[in-house]
Amino acid sequence: MSSVDLSVNVGPLKLKNPVLLASGTVGYGNEISEFLELSKIGGIVTKSISLLPRKGNPPQRIVETPSGMMNAIGLANVGLEIFIKEKIPFLKEVKSDIICNIAASSIEEYVECVKALNNEEAIKAFEINVSCPNVKEGGLIFGNDVSAVGRITEKVRAATDKPVIIKLSPNTASISRFAEVVKKEGGDIVSAINTLVGAAFDIWKKTPKIANVTGGLSGPAIKPVAIAKVLEISRKVDIPIIGIGGISSWQDAVEFMIAGASAFQLGTINFVNPKLGNDILTDLEDYCAKMGIENISDLTASYKI
Ligand SMILES: Cc1cc2nc3c(=O)[nH]c(=O)nc-3n(C[C@H](O)[C@H](O)[C@H](O)COP(=O)(O)O)c2cc1C
Repeated sequence: MSSVDLSVNVGPLKLKNPVLLASGTVGYGNEISEFLELSKIGGIVTKSISLLPRKGNPPQRIVETPSGMMNAIGLANVGLEIFIKEKIPFLKEVKSDIICNIAASSIEEYVECVKALNNEEAIKAFEINVSCPNVKEGGLIFGNDVSAVGRITEKVRAATDKPVIIKLSPNTASISRFAEVVKKEGGDIVSAINTLVGAAFDIWKKTPKIANVTGGLSGPAIKPVAIAKVLEISRKVDIPIIGIGGISSWQDAVEFMIAGASAFQLGTINFVNPKLGNDILTDLEDYCAKMGIENISDLTASYKI
């Protein structure tokens, strides 16, 4: 038996291991539960929930790209009421920590959602999506505005005692300025990154491959960008970071932790290898054992620059 301790404290959020499944790539946990044991992973981040149900954008909403994919789902989701009635009961059964991701088109809507979900015991923390590039209202308008991100953090903080994670956009010149304002306004953690804005054309029709024209680029193609953003935050701001972006192997995950992440999320890879969230655990243990690391959290920000 390995003596490596995989548990991590991400600020106030205690996880049995640093592996989380990213918002929008595992729905509400039920579908992926056929492929992996959810109880073994650190936690699941739900698809963004909004106050009212959203149909999302018209198709085509997804396109493959070299080493990744672009999506413009447009935050399609069941809405708060159905989430509480139909999705939380399943999530309660799963012995994994649930992080509820919330999207909104106004600060009031974020607050209303958080208040409505605050008493749900199954929800361990809130991840606030201020950074979706695929919706006209909210999304990037907030994600690109430091003072709006500050106000959202402040109001959400006042509405809950659960850990508040703000999910940051990479589509900005200085992501660390956003992390700074999150810390100042009482946010506990930042997650980085959401998708990068991209576009693609059908050369024969000369029309965009995605009906929304632009989409969010994810997958291995964005990994170096994501690591650079995590590193920038880690070097400039004293706040726990959850790393996201193109992780496809245990080695990628280790890279994110070295660059400053306390935990990480698997996103696009869930569509390719939905078992990775389980398989990665023994590999992480082996790596730590070989490196003489007793607690995986010692890896966080262990870069030598
Ligand atoms: C199909 C799809 C849907 C997504 N939906 C959401 C969402 O609802 N809310 C959110 O915060 N992020 C969403 N994301 C972004 C991911 O959570 C993640 O931040 C991003 O894909 C980068 O990680 P990856 O390269 O590992 O996929 C979505 C990503 C994909 C591919």
